[in-house]
Amino acid sequence: MARKISFLNYKGGVGKTSLVVNTAACLAANGRRVLLCDFDTQSNASIWLMRLERWNKLNSGGHGSVYSFFEPGGVQLSDLIVRDVVQDKAGKPALPGLDLLPTTFNLVDLESEYVGDPKRPAYLLFQEQLEVIAKDYDYVLFDCPPNLLRASQCGVFSSQEIYVPSNPDALSLIGFTLLVEKLGRFQQLSAGFRNASMGAPTQVRGIIFNSIKSGIDIEVPKMRMQLRLNQFKTAKRAAQDAKIFDTQIRDAMVVRRAVTLGLPVNLIGQENIEQTRDNVVQDYRRLAAEIETHEP
Ligand SMILES: Nc1ncnc2c1ncn2[C@@H]1O[C@H](COP(=O)(O)OP(=O)(O)O)[C@@H](O)[C@H]1O
Ligand SMILES: [Mg+2]
Repeated sequence: MARKISFLNYKGGVGKTSLVVNTAACLAANGRRVLLCDFDTQSNASIWLMRLERWNKLNSGGHGSVYSFFEPGGVQLSDLIVRDVVQDKAGKPALPGLDLLPTTFNLVDLESEYVGDPKRPAYLLFQEQLEVIAKDYDYVLFDCPPNLLRASQCGVFSSQEIYVPSNPDALSLIGFTLLVEKLGRFQQLSAGFRNASMGAPTQVRGIIFNSIKSGIDIEVPKMRMQLRLNQFKTAKRAAQDAKIFDTQIRDAMVVRRAVTLGLPVNLIGQENIEQTRDNVVQDYRRLAAEIETHEP
């Protein structure tokens, strides 16, 4: 059964997308079958992995991305998946095993224009179909926007785990706190739609520190985060085995450049290397390995 994990924080710009993309790529490089679901209407993960030209066609066509699933006469989820999404310059698969459920800008309509059936909310429709295709994967990872509106709800309702990307600052801590509050409310509202086979509602199982500059001591922000996590655990509002990941991802220019190159950092070739590349790839590999061992 696939492990389903949402990457979520109420703070934007903390590294949700870059963590999902690079972790997914490292898991796939290890032979895992990974489906990355892009639920952020900004489409950063989709643009990154499909590259701009391919994604532009999808975006301007107006259908074939995840929102098509929710439109009347909805398309099957499995027909929307871009298999082996990462390609080399010749258009050949460069990372077999990494599939993408892409998004385009029209996903924003899910929050406004969409008129669903209150008895069958969008997240339930999504979860039911995902169940069918998830058996083809070891991991289903969700890139979420910094909120818990309808698009994020699809990821969260379907997941058994939530990881919270964070920077070592007060705003990330506030984002985490807000997330746990909103999550509690969503769990109450959605409780009636859960079926027995889904297990317990999702809680936060991990905090991942990202974009750590060299020479910066993060012990104090880490301690504050640990205290908050402990409070939530005591109040049973975070998973009892939730932890701050040992692995933290360093700040490295190559992460920013990777988007332009249309490649996860572990696939960026020698010609584009600068000093920190190897090191940050190690970080992502280590993180992927730590996620593998942090099984629920
Ligand atoms: N480890 C890192 N080193 C350097 N830049 C990073 C790192 N992680 C993320 N970034 C950059 O920070 C910005 C925000 O990251 P992103 O993954 O898009 O965050 P989010 O999805 O939470 O909004 C992007 O420009 C990204 O390239
Ligand atoms: Mg993002």
